[in-house]
Amino acid sequence: MSPAIQPTVIVVGSGLAGLSAVYAALQSGARVHLLDRSPKLGGNSIKASSGINGAGTPAQEAAGVKDTQTQFYNDTARSGGARFKTASTIPGFDREALVTRLSTESADAVRWLSDEIGVDLSVVAQLGGHGVARTHRGKGKPPGASIVLTLLDRLKASDNFTLLSSADVTSLLQHDGAVTGVAYTQDDTEHTLAGRVVVASGGFAGDASMLATYTPALAGLPSTNDPRPGSHALLTAVGAQLLDMDSVQIHPTGFVDPATPGARLKFLAGEMLRGEGGILLSPSGSRFVNELDTRAAVSKAIMDAFPSVDEDGTRQWDITLLLDPGAAAAAASHIGFYEWKGLLRKVKLATLSPEVVASVRAYAAAVDAGSADPFSRPAYGHWKLKPDAESLAQAEVYIGRITPVVHYTMGGAAIDTGGRVLRATGGGVVPGLWAAGEVTGGVHGDNRLGGNSLLECVVFGLAAGNGAARGS
Ligand SMILES: Cc1cc2nc3c(=O)[nH]c(=O)nc-3n(C[C@H](O)[C@H](O)[C@H](O)COP(=O)(O)OP(=O)(O)OC[C@H]3O[C@@H](n4cnc5c(N)ncnc54)[C@H](O)[C@@H]3O)c2cc1C
Ligand SMILES: *[C@@H]1O[C@H](CO)[C@@H](O)[C@H](O)[C@H]1NC(C)=O
Ligand SMILES: *[C@@H]1O[C@H](CO)[C@@H](O)[C@H](O)[C@H]1NC(C)=O
Repeated sequence: MSPAIQPTVIVVGSGLAGLSAVYAALQSGARVHLLDRSPKLGGNSIKASSGINGAGTPAQEAAGVKDTQTQFYNDTARSGGARFKTASTIPGFDREALVTRLSTESADAVRWLSDEIGVDLSVVAQLGGHGVARTHRGKGKPPGASIVLTLLDRLKASDNFTLLSSADVTSLLQHDGAVTGVAYTQDDTEHTLAGRVVVASGGFAGDASMLATYTPALAGLPSTNDPRPGSHALLTAVGAQLLDMDSVQIHPTGFVDPATPGARLKFLAGEMLRGEGGILLSPSGSRFVNELDTRAAVSKAIMDAFPSVDEDGTRQWDITLLLDPGAAAAAASHIGFYEWKGLLRKVKLATLSPEVVASVRAYAAAVDAGSADPFSRPAYGHWKLKPDAESLAQAEVYIGRITPVVHYTMGGAAIDTGGRVLRATGGGVVPGLWAAGEVTGGVHGDNRLGGNSLLECVVFGLAAGNGAARGS
């Protein structure tokens, strides 16, 4: 290919969707410019802690897990709820086809990251809403950081790749209805760049104003996402259709830091803390929910039953996460970090309120007797604390305060299975424009399954980058 006709692809956003698009566009022979408005690369992708889904992978086989693409498709559609039962009115938008592509290419996505890029994804875990263990991570560093950093290193090696950080894309350029490039600001200077465009600018769970517009009921809630304006308006300005914008995922357990209780940004208390045996206690010290239910169900149990408190303008709840010595030992690699951060602290159980001690005694008795949980918790994890007076008097437990937090935005721009952006009116796609990752909507319906976001970034990021390089 002569340099004169080598296509230029511009990717907006350096999270996993953007990095995947860059990789595929380079492979397809394009020159690629990656722009991120932040000086720090990796977006929310670099914070991902649970992992990426894949059905039918070598890691699952090694762990003795039997899984199929159909089972994975079914779990995703079931979690997506009513949205999957309602026919689409957007021409060219096909939710089932998107999830089919997501599930059939999931094992390839995991294989690409592990075999081609070199990321360790050898450990599988079962998250809420999944029928089997299919969320992959490595043995060391959290998966988001190891995926993003390894991939970035790989991309930087290509001389067809240009990286611009602190470059804020302010609009998409258009000619005759087609997207022809971007306008961006860097160092207070306006620039333009010509090329086909992949928008991978992430969600709006860090944008209080967009949240207030689309989900007024969630106004004031804290978030696991850094404050950051959504960039969806870049897309709507050139005719894109948004959908599912009122589907916002609440995660039940964000840590309230005692040093800065009113802070809007919360650290996530990973699902694993409950999975390994942690329990949740109400403001008055009682258990009230099956801690292993879906994110939506546990969040609802908290928000419907207990009054919120306003702290520095942040609307939050006062729920206690408690781990006995058994659960704490099983989660040791994470506990040390949370304790160092001041989010969990080790205390003598006997120093806590009589209500908390009574709840722990009753729970320990049920676990000890192997009897059914009154809240139908299906498994007790590694809880070991015994209910006798001596054990309770001696026990040291970990406690932390948690609250429901805004975590992820399911809605976004409608795309076809190739990542082309669909028009709001008149049908068809916006020529010259692709999108991938959390800025798009449709795959997750009403409720995202844990691990499906990183997967969507890879599957549709690769598709979009490849499409943009080829121009189709
Ligand atoms: C704490 C936490 C843990 C999570 N854990 C998991 C997990 O284990 N598994 C999973 O599947 N998902 C997880 N998620 C969700 C997942 O990480 C994100 O939804 C996903 O990574 C989004 O990727 P993205 O590439 O679409 O966007 P992001 O990674 O958010 O990247 C978007 C980038 O675009 C840039 N940008 C935005 N607008 C512009 C503009 N106008 N100009 C230039 N640049 C712009 C931003 O600066 C940002 O760097 C987690 C999320 C959080 C917050
Ligand atoms: C850059 O792109 C050109 C044209 O596609 C190609 O010949 C060259 O090998 C690429 N360079 C790298 C390092 O991939
Ligand atoms: C998936 O769901 C379909 C439709 O409900 C059902 O017929 C099929 O048996 C399910 N397959 C698996 C593997 O769960």
